[in-house]
Amino acid sequence: MDSRESRKNDHIKYALSLSDGPVKTGFSDIHVMSNCLPEVDLDRVSLATNLPGVQTLTHPFIINAMTGGAASLETVNRQLAIVAKETGSAMAVGSQYGSVKSHNYSDSFRVVRLENPQGIIFANVSALATVSDGQCAVDMVEAQALQIHLNAAQELAMAEGDRKFSGYLRAIEKLCHSLSVPVIVKETGCGMAKGEIKALLNVGVKIIDIGGAGGTNFPAIEGARFKGANQELSTWGIPTAISLLEAVAVCGKQQGIVATGGIRTAMDTLKALILGANAVGMAGNILKNLTDGGVEYAVEELNKLKHNLQDFMVLTGCKTISQLKDVPVYYTGEVLSAKQCLENMR
Ligand SMILES: Cc1cc2nc3c(=O)[nH]c(=O)nc-3n(C[C@H](O)[C@H](O)[C@H](O)COP(=O)(O)O)c2cc1C
Repeated sequence: MDSRESRKNDHIKYALSLSDGPVKTGFSDIHVMSNCLPEVDLDRVSLATNLPGVQTLTHPFIINAMTGGAASLETVNRQLAIVAKETGSAMAVGSQYGSVKSHNYSDSFRVVRLENPQGIIFANVSALATVSDGQCAVDMVEAQALQIHLNAAQELAMAEGDRKFSGYLRAIEKLCHSLSVPVIVKETGCGMAKGEIKALLNVGVKIIDIGGAGGTNFPAIEGARFKGANQELSTWGIPTAISLLEAVAVCGKQQGIVATGGIRTAMDTLKALILGANAVGMAGNILKNLTDGGVEYAVEELNKLKHNLQDFMVLTGCKTISQLKDVPVYYTGEVLSAKQCLENMR
């Protein structure tokens, strides 16, 4: 097994054994007002949602980027693709950067398109990718969009990680202007703040996946792999709910925002959509379900989330995802403080 393959296997192993956090997502500081006169019939609730430049998603749950790039990971990607197909979920593959550079293991990604020919699939590379790397990743899985991941804290925690982070914005700009599909920039657990989101939109990024803190914690995963890592990095990051408020302050509500980072329940999802996300991404919990109970169980749990979200939509008086953005909420705790700070800075 080469070092990349063993690292990717380690990521799965530690993502399964470590728990979410320690930073909290912030969703428990958001409280949704119940509508006692909903005027909505459950069977009329539509979960369909949109992301700029991508065909309509039948529901807002995205199976976010996880794996691929080693022979042993083809099975995991095949299973994730079946879950995506059975549940009608959009799905991102894990980073294809190594595969594109080495021309190895592309089958471990292609399997996702083979299993789900009609599905919405996102390709994934790092911000080091050239335009031809990006297009190659897109073509490999016939992707509807390209995700570019940002993971500076993870790299710093990795013994073998990158230490040079300059030039990313310029590289992203080139990808945005040259690719055949829209670009999604995603953090992987430390969140995004207003200034950087603005900069990303200015260079042509169409979709922001905030990837906030509170869920899978990559600095902690790297800290478990390498005891000499800066272990304090695992406490770094903007909670998902606060990063979402930052994104909405720049983009506006439901204008190309994906909320990822510790989304585990239909209630987390409801709150994210009300705050202004178009969709939510989930990774660690899907992997756990797959490992605990196989494809069937992972499908069942994802379908449960869809049904539960429909129940909550009735209780907010909403027939559509877009109506959710007008549902009244109130804030407490850390998220309330963050919101007040944000408003004072405007
Ligand atoms: C095992 C594993 C591998 C991952 N690999 C990638 C990757 O290759 N590229 C990427 O953009 N994100 C990757 N992620 C990050 C997820 O897409 C997601 O942003 C992060 O896990 C937060 O979501 P969660 O809290 O629902 O897990 C990975 C996540 C997991 C659990």
